[in-house]
Amino acid sequence: MNKRILLTGRLPLEIMASLTEKFEVDAHNEDIPFDRQKLLQRIRDKDGLISMITDTVDEEVLDNAASLKMIAHFGVGYNNIDVKAATARGILVSNTPGVLTDATAELAFALILSISRRLVECDKITRVGRFRYWAPMLFLGREVTGKTLGIIGLGEIGKAVARRAKGFDMRIIYNNRSRIDISEEKELNAEYVSLKTLLMEADFVSLHVPLTEHTKHLIGGEELSRMKPTAYLINTSRGPVVDEQALLEALRNRKIGGAGLDVYENEPALTPGLTELDNVILLPHVGSCTMETRVKMATMAAENLIAGLSGHVPPSLVNPEVLPKRRL
Ligand code: 8YV
Repeated sequence: MNKRILLTGRLPLEIMASLTEKFEVDAHNEDIPFDRQKLLQRIRDKDGLISMITDTVDEEVLDNAASLKMIAHFGVGYNNIDVKAATARGILVSNTPGVLTDATAELAFALILSISRRLVECDKITRVGRFRYWAPMLFLGREVTGKTLGIIGLGEIGKAVARRAKGFDMRIIYNNRSRIDISEEKELNAEYVSLKTLLMEADFVSLHVPLTEHTKHLIGGEELSRMKPTAYLINTSRGPVVDEQALLEALRNRKIGGAGLDVYENEPALTPGLTELDNVILLPHVGSCTMETRVKMATMAAENLIAGLSGHVPPSLVNPEVLPKRRL
């Protein structure tokens, strides 16, 4: 009998076809999050799961999944999955690194340009007929060229942002758990600094760390108060990396220049008051949301699952320590 899999989001048709060829697929083929009660119910008899960021795969779910062998997560960040609990039960977990690097870096850069040149504000004014005259001092933004970009988390996505910043002649400073190779620093023209220095010197602070217990509220009131009053905070990583209430206050009191956000602390809810501010751009978590990238992510998740459920090692396994005791 074919193995059974649960798919909690709508994927491109060609990927669906490759999955149904190999597995008995139970799919939530809709663009709304999969209901938790349904997840708890429908995971019971499944060998594999393709999960979305909107699924919380915790001990309760795993305890309901006696035959589950593999979770192929659709996304690079997998903070929604209790990997430790999965490992303890012999369940493989994979993600989709690499394929969404450029799309996410593009979005971070789009936010850098949009917030500093006030694109969203300008669009709003123009479309309601308030572009009545041109004047030299109207809609003044701030230039990106030649400014200092502070990258927190110089992994694949952070590096891709740094490469783009070179085209804008930016000075690049970064802070990371550990320093990268000197040769790579040279190639990226990136200088390692302390978090404190980065916050004080950057005109743009862009976040590219995963969400872990160490990065939760990495940017809070104190960190925001170190930033220049003209600096912008860009977050395309995970919402809880920023204390959103503290950010709201910093934005409201014009303590920083502005923010470009793609992710939120309690997604999809926004901290009340954020939508009233004109110095913030708010996007609905679309970092990897391009046709090209979503097809690649789906292909990769499917390939991981196929490998894992055929007894092989999935190419992007995140918990290799599970292998000696994997469920078969
Ligand atoms: C996805 C993301 O939209 O990969 C990630 O970590 O945040 C996004 O690319 C999300 O994970 C979909 O499940």
